[in-house]
Amino acid sequence: MADFKVTPWEVEGKVDYDKLIQQFGTQKIDKKLLDRISKFAKLHTMLRRGYFFSHRDLDFVLDDYEKGKGFFLYTGRGPSGSMHIGHLIPMIFNKWLQDVFDVNLYIEVTDDEKFLFKKDKSWEDIQEQTNKDILDIAAVGFNPDKTFIFKDSEYIKNVYPMILKIAKKVTFSTSKAVFGFTNDTNIGSIFYPAYQIVLTFFEKKRCLIPAAIDQDPYWRIQRDIAESLGYHKTAAIHNKLLPPLTGVEGKMSSSREETAIYLSDSPETVKKKVMKYAFSGGRPTIEEHRKLGGNPDIDVSFQWLYAFLEEDDKKIKKIEEDYRSGKLLTGELKQILIDKLNKFLEEHRKQRKKAENLVDKFKYSGKLAKEMWNKTI
Ligand code: TYM
Repeated sequence: MADFKVTPWEVEGKVDYDKLIQQFGTQKIDKKLLDRISKFAKLHTMLRRGYFFSHRDLDFVLDDYEKGKGFFLYTGRGPSGSMHIGHLIPMIFNKWLQDVFDVNLYIEVTDDEKFLFKKDKSWEDIQEQTNKDILDIAAVGFNPDKTFIFKDSEYIKNVYPMILKIAKKVTFSTSKAVFGFTNDTNIGSIFYPAYQIVLTFFEKKRCLIPAAIDQDPYWRIQRDIAESLGYHKTAAIHNKLLPPLTGVEGKMSSSREETAIYLSDSPETVKKKVMKYAFSGGRPTIEEHRKLGGNPDIDVSFQWLYAFLEEDDKKIKKIEEDYRSGKLLTGELKQILIDKLNKFLEEHRKQRKKAENLVDKFKYSGKLAKEMWNKTI
């Protein structure tokens, strides 16, 4: 048994991503694949740094693209509580892919899922969070004519026939094995996976899903049934989970303040949280730190900068070397993170303001949205 666990709902322990690739049966993104992607664009920081690290059938997606068959993107968000910066990572990467390949993107906001899975949340709580999240997602800057954002409870009429076709193919014993459902699981939750799968059938082209690897169990079921329904097995590209502020074990939580930086955190809150909670790979005293150096491999400030906040390869290398050698102190490293986070959040707030005018396009009036409301899947 591994000493960590990853499911769509929880992460326990320190994840060994090489082992997870084996457990889940996915493929590592190797140098050959990276070289292939780099023919289309300069690699995104998160690809260069191995933060997007695993995939399913990404090579087939590129084959289809090169042959002119094209592909489409799909990702999602479960509006259960405040969105944190980790939730934005797959969104940012989706935007990059959409810019590079100029393809359609479908974004599912799962108000149904979160209502069913979160015991303590009312329908009204979830609806309020859904509206906030859609604005945060719209702020990422997708193409409004090629992106359709919807919430499950609203779009259900257009997808229910296909959801039923999916539901008919998936037995309780499969979903028990894949998701760990038990006799105590409510029947809504048992049915829900059919909805998360249906978006992979929005077009006859191959679907590519950029998301953290925690969502992969859904794609496993999809891949078992897709061809029998006349569609492609979905492809996926997986990112690692940004570790919680409090240390490299488990995952950031929407309900545990100290573990995450929320998109709504003020500059003062960011400073306070990082200074107080960010797990440090530094030494207990300055003298020891100067003499022995710090350990960036377990230092969350460094991990966050490395994953996506410091995009300059030379700068991140210098930070790593200086920290390892003891030249850079923990407080100084934390300050670099605070500055980067606040810059990132300030830009996000600006974009969110601008996106207020765009939400309607993403949901209803943009070219793709209009097409989607006019058809039944
Ligand atoms: P949710 O809301 O839990 O997560 C939204 C997206 O963020 C990813 N993610 C993270 N990425 C990096 N670091 C983290 N710490 C971190 N935590 C979460 C998730 O993998 C996800 O991509 N059931 C889904 C909603 C959904 C969906 C989808 C997600 C519906 N269809 C298709 C991805 C793709 C959910 O509750 O996501």
